[in-house]
Amino acid sequence: RICYVNGDYVAEEDAKISVFDRGFLFADGVYEVTSVLGGKLIDFDGHATRLSRSLSELAMPSPVTRDELLDIHRELVTRNGIEEGLVYLQITRGAADRDFAYPTDAAPGIVLFTQTKTLIESPAARAGIRIVSLPDARWGRRDIKTVQLLYPSMAKMEAKAQGADDAWMVEDGHVTEGTSNNAYIVKGSTIVTRQLGTEILAGITRNAVLRFAREAQMKVEERAFTVEEAESADEAFVTSATTFVQPVVSINGSEIGDGTPGPVARRLREIYIEESR
Ligand code: PDD
Repeated sequence: RICYVNGDYVAEEDAKISVFDRGFLFADGVYEVTSVLGGKLIDFDGHATRLSRSLSELAMPSPVTRDELLDIHRELVTRNGIEEGLVYLQITRGAADRDFAYPTDAAPGIVLFTQTKTLIESPAARAGIRIVSLPDARWGRRDIKTVQLLYPSMAKMEAKAQGADDAWMVEDGHVTEGTSNNAYIVKGSTIVTRQLGTEILAGITRNAVLRFAREAQMKVEERAFTVEEAESADEAFVTSATTFVQPVVSINGSEIGDGTPGPVARRLREIYIEESR
């Protein structure tokens, strides 16, 4: 597998960065995950725009322009022969003597790699996933896509220990989002998902799915919902670049609807895949 590291395309075993990199020492870095279907990037523009925003919120310079970034994505997809999978991109503030204050002289670091992954024929999409709710113990700026992913990782492990597939995180009695996806419920014919803010990441897939839902005359409410509301919902699902629309079939052990993927989630998944191809 070929990776991209600070200007060079290198074999995976030669892809190395400094031990002083602030991404490693302080999680001082941001990332994006863009899916690939049929060798084509899905919504590169959305990911590039969110990346710029994450960088600017952290006063971190970008080592590449948007056009260069697109070229690197395409080059890696071609070189690694990715038909279905993803491109992972990470930018950090770079290597400097360890100090809490941002260094003034560090050159930002950039790495990209690809992963082959089955996105369309995913067993989890066919069967649906089981969710448990857990407290949201992350920091308060979840709108910035930083590489601080330890709590989401812990929450995912706790969900698995409880016999589930993933967790929805809860703050002040309301669901924020999943460990690495946005969360939705369906009440009657209305799709409910939390409004954007600093509490959640503005998913690129969320944006596309809500647009498709509205175009298909589905009713959408952007507001916070409680765990109780979710447990008694008619349907539930999650979205992310790597899962597209994935149905949720149980929350805290309560079956959602009849315990199988619901029609709204299935339809939105079909539309999303159709529009992304
Ligand atoms: N995660 N919320 C969180 C906390 C996420 O980490 C993600 C994405 C999303 C969905 O965003 P998008 O639709 O732009 O992928 C929401 C990526 C896929 C990851 O960490 O692998």
